[in-house]
Amino acid sequence: MLFDLKEKYPAYYRYYGRRIAKRLSPSLSKIFEEEYINYSIDKEILNVTTKQASDKTYILNPNYKKHTIEIGFGDGEHLISKAKNDESTHYIGCEVFINGLGKVLKRIKEENIYNISLCGLNCLYLLNSLENRSIDDIFIINPDPWEKKRHFKRRLINHDFISLLYKKLKINGSVSITTDSISYFEHMSEIIKNNDIEFKYCDIRALNSDDYLFNISKYQKKGILKGRKIHLIHLKRL
Ligand SMILES: C[S@@+](CC[C@H](N)C(=O)[O-])C[C@H]1O[C@@H](n2cnc3c(N)ncnc32)[C@H](O)[C@@H]1O
Repeated sequence: MLFDLKEKYPAYYRYYGRRIAKRLSPSLSKIFEEEYINYSIDKEILNVTTKQASDKTYILNPNYKKHTIEIGFGDGEHLISKAKNDESTHYIGCEVFINGLGKVLKRIKEENIYNISLCGLNCLYLLNSLENRSIDDIFIINPDPWEKKRHFKRRLINHDFISLLYKKLKINGSVSITTDSISYFEHMSEIIKNNDIEFKYCDIRALNSDDYLFNISKYQKKGILKGRKIHLIHLKRL
């Protein structure tokens, strides 16, 4: 199903970076074929995003009072542990990297996790299709740093993106972003300082090793092993 949608709507799955690292194993391909349709919201998002629908809003599952999004979840360590520890919240994991989606789909099946929905589209389409003030928390754990100056424009987090996240948060909703890139951290801090948006609360600092968001993903762990600091941007909506 994912591959059919990708072929039909390539623009909605596009972003700067790799989408697949290696061929999927036969068992992961089988899971995609049989199960992606049961856990993914791609079809619904595409239905409201593309011109077929007059109402451009994706209605979140009303069985849950709280909805959390993780963007670029990679291998899904943080997404899965949050979802398992908080079964009354609906978690939407958005990731364009197919191997990551496959790994998480496999774990969802094997561990009978019911409160995660997956989205393989570029997160901009997911966010734009959601009702304003509908999301409780948004996590972005170590977004691609794009360190070279000529690649800065590829960075996911920019002024417009922060405004979009803010719009989608409920009052008191929060955004948490971590990074091991000093230049990305400075870039994001500048955006927050110079943004016209007023936040209820901003926590911008280096994480300590006992902070809950420290050492919680594959990419973060690599940075820590290289001796890099992990910085946090935590924002709460007014
Ligand atoms: C540096 S990796 C970090 C992965 C994971 N969070 C970790 O810390 O191990 C960034 C991830 O964001 C995903 N990503 C980048 N741009 C995206 C977008 N526009 N929409 C959804 N996912 C995106 C990439 O596919 C990649 O897996």
